[in-house]
Amino acid sequence: MSTTYTLDTATSRATPTPAPLKRLTVPAIRRQKGGTPLVMLTAYTVRTAQLLDPHCDLLLVGDSLGQVIYGLPSTVPVTLEMMAAHGAAVVRGSYHAVVVIDMPFGSYEASPERAFESAAFLLKQTGAAAVKLEGGEAMASTVRFLSERGVPVMGHVGLTPQAVNMLGGYGARGRTEAEADKIVADAQAIADAGAFAMVVEGVVEPIAVAITRAVACPTIGIGASAQCDGQVLVAEDMLGLFERTPRFVKRFAAMAELMGEAAATYAAEVRERRFPGPEQVYAAKP
Ligand code: KIV
Repeated sequence: MSTTYTLDTATSRATPTPAPLKRLTVPAIRRQKGGTPLVMLTAYTVRTAQLLDPHCDLLLVGDSLGQVIYGLPSTVPVTLEMMAAHGAAVVRGSYHAVVVIDMPFGSYEASPERAFESAAFLLKQTGAAAVKLEGGEAMASTVRFLSERGVPVMGHVGLTPQAVNMLGGYGARGRTEAEADKIVADAQAIADAGAFAMVVEGVVEPIAVAITRAVACPTIGIGASAQCDGQVLVAEDMLGLFERTPRFVKRFAAMAELMGEAAATYAAEVRERRFPGPEQVYAAKP
């Protein structure tokens, strides 16, 4: 499978990526611990990947695609097949960033062997470099099993959205001393098990700082702290495609408004027969 997007025909709407560069690697990401903050965004489609890739160290094919792309109520219903299809598109649309694919709920928790089968399926189907899975101490043996068998694993601790039914919601974690200690222990366990990096999501800031100081691998924060070794956001949140912005999101653009305005202008021009204009129709040969 080619990992570089090369399609360039007269009929394709896709914009080919620029001349292939050497892609960043998992070891290079790991070495960036304590250095220039790592930049990660989610991507689910080829075109988004093409646009974000030059600016990112990592592209995450997050299972948040369940809500963002499919309108599902949580990440729980997301399947391996959905992750594989979107993962392959993102790899085809990128040439620079390390592509990480989320292991969906139910594809890795039962045993390390089951996790290996799921991870191998994702890496073979997509050409991505690594997988991400949620959980701490309970997942440490799985992280070790995968890492020792050639599957780079990014961990995910703190607020773990796949556990929404246990957690009862998406509120920030670590407000009690016991919960804070547990999250730090979770992070330490998966770092010790060989995770090459980990997402720290939705925790009170001192926990993110403590984890970042304690673990040997880079921490990538979301709703965590600027002291993390990197940051991640869901691209659609960051681009302003949703009106509602949770506290941890900053809108770097106002895409929802732009799309609404464009659609309204298009609709008006169609209804007034101003679109298509002379430039958009084919003249008959004289
Ligand atoms: O699924 C996802 O998009 C994620 C990020 C929010 C870290 O896991």
